Amino acid sequence: MSYYKIKNLEQYFKHYKKSIREPQKFWGRVASENFVWYQQWEKVVEYDMADARVEWFKGAKVNIVKNCIDRHLAKRGDKTAIIFEPNNPDEPALHISYNELHERVCKMANVLRDQGIKKGDRVCIYLPMIPELAVSVLACARIGAVHSVVFAGFSSSALASRINDCECKMVITSDGSYRGNKTVDLKGIVDEALQQCPTVTTVLVAKRTNEAVPMQDGRDQWLQPLLDKASTNNVAEIMDAEDPLFILYTSGSTGKPKGMLHTTAGYMVYTAYTFKNIFNYQDNDVFWCTADIGWITGHSYIVYGPLLNGATTVIFEGVPSYPNFSRFWEVIEKHNVNQFYTAPTAIRALAKESLEYVQKYPLSSLKVIGSVGEPINEEAWHWYNDHVGGKRCPLVDTWWQTETGGIMISPLPFVTPTKPTYATLPLPGIQPVLMDEKRNEIEGNQVVGSLCIKYPWPSMARTIWGDHQRFKDTYFSTFPGKYFTGDGALRDEVGYYRITGRVDDVIIVSGHNLGTAPIEDAINEHPAVAESAIVGFPHDIKGNALYGYIILKDIGEGRDRNNLSKEINQLIADQIGPIAKLDKIQFVSGLPKTRSGKIMRRILRKVAEGDFSNFGDISTLLNPEIVEEIKNGRL
Ligand code: PRX
Repeated sequence: MSYYKIKNLEQYFKHYKKSIREPQKFWGRVASENFVWYQQWEKVVEYDMADARVEWFKGAKVNIVKNCIDRHLAKRGDKTAIIFEPNNPDEPALHISYNELHERVCKMANVLRDQGIKKGDRVCIYLPMIPELAVSVLACARIGAVHSVVFAGFSSSALASRINDCECKMVITSDGSYRGNKTVDLKGIVDEALQQCPTVTTVLVAKRTNEAVPMQDGRDQWLQPLLDKASTNNVAEIMDAEDPLFILYTSGSTGKPKGMLHTTAGYMVYTAYTFKNIFNYQDNDVFWCTADIGWITGHSYIVYGPLLNGATTVIFEGVPSYPNFSRFWEVIEKHNVNQFYTAPTAIRALAKESLEYVQKYPLSSLKVIGSVGEPINEEAWHWYNDHVGGKRCPLVDTWWQTETGGIMISPLPFVTPTKPTYATLPLPGIQPVLMDEKRNEIEGNQVVGSLCIKYPWPSMARTIWGDHQRFKDTYFSTFPGKYFTGDGALRDEVGYYRITGRVDDVIIVSGHNLGTAPIEDAINEHPAVAESAIVGFPHDIKGNALYGYIILKDIGEGRDRNNLSKEINQLIADQIGPIAKLDKIQFVSGLPKTRSGKIMRRILRKVAEGDFSNFGDISTLLNPEIVEEIKNGRL
């Protein structure tokens, strides 16, 4: 398969230019050379960015699962498609070949059809990281049902609002789930949620923990007996290029969750293309992305991207800290993982622990390591690069979003020279632009602005389920005609991008634009600091001043807080300038985080402002109890 696999920097620039000058030709060629289609498209792309309407490969007929599985069977039927690594290291791992995956997905697809699920119906999947999760996703896509995976750490009310928003007919869940040394009663959460969900008529329950769970007559059925009876013959649905593939709700923002709708052909082409190039996947490699399939990272780079390339992909049920902090490194060693893709928050947590946990393992199978989800601070970048990548594996810092479907800005390993904390260069077809406050495009290098994308790309979300106006208002109105990412970025002297964080995290102090990420980087370099978060609060003279929430490491706990505060401010002054010094420093034992590990700055801002009213929904936080502590300790 060619995928226009990029081999060196010169070729990257060549392909990039071609993709900008002749996007129709570029993507047309990627699409026609590397996938199986029932029918070719009439037009590669048609769009009206002002109205937020985009169509890719219009007129084409395709099934993404035929591309993920069936077409590999002749050549790679016995190759392992999925390695399932259970939560408990003593439970044997499972190797599922492409033949077996085909059989499982066909059976599941037949079960769904027998239960009355048809093309276009929405199916909610609320499962732990077990093979049934990937199989359910693929079975839906095979029959044209729209999957809406809800991360199995969300509460019953979050689950209910997501089920109701897109009116799911069915929920696929399990009796329970394992996470570290905990067992979670998933079925109980589903039962509670469904009290408020009138559209759900069927619940299929996979067995994982074998706990006794109540089954509601006429609604709930055990999955396995249905699968046992199902045929392995299944004819895939013929889908239009723009038929909906899945809905995925974005996490953590205010108000009603946004159901981002992704469609079939463009998503397929772009996730496959980016997987191949960004991870430099070679035929017998083992790829491991530690995200949950409940997030976009898992959709695109555990399930679809790898399988479209006939790859071996790891599904890991556990957590990095169980049974100890060596778990990730032990799994890499055990399965000879070649590409490892994780989040800065995991890296920072592991870097806090003794180095012995990672140094015990040679990790010599690794070829490429990746980061995603938030800006990776300099300290974490170096720790990851030195101790995991052994300074020999390129570290790809991949910037993208639920809305973008696939990775947008990232180094290509062995092609793009990396630079700590920089996502570097856009993928072919991606045209990032930086905008100023007057909505003008900022030309040239060594500049900062709001990050927008000015031309459609194949895997962009098409709408917010049921609310196209909100889609338009959120993403296409701030800078008319352009997709607004909500992130700020800087472009350095050679044109590399560094994502500085959400634009709402940029704080203007005495007329100076300060990004929270670089200040936090500086603070985190203090040997006594584990983690920090900065927000702005109103100040009579400066407009805004800075308020820092700081978590200390054990070694910092006994120290004089005034002295620590002075040292921290000195570090900031040294690294950024006195303007970036913190007016207030509150030492805390934790920061409010969403389940995907993002700090909920909205709450921190409210506390800093002394506004304790209307904190919004904190039920989806990982640690809602911390909010009280932070409120009580406000300076
Ligand atoms: O602020 C950016 C940050 O995560 C946001 C998207 O979050 P989500 O939709 O949950 O998707 C996360 C996984 C793709 C972005 O707007 N972000 C993501 N990757 C990076 C990042 N910030 C800096 N560097 C990254 N590599």
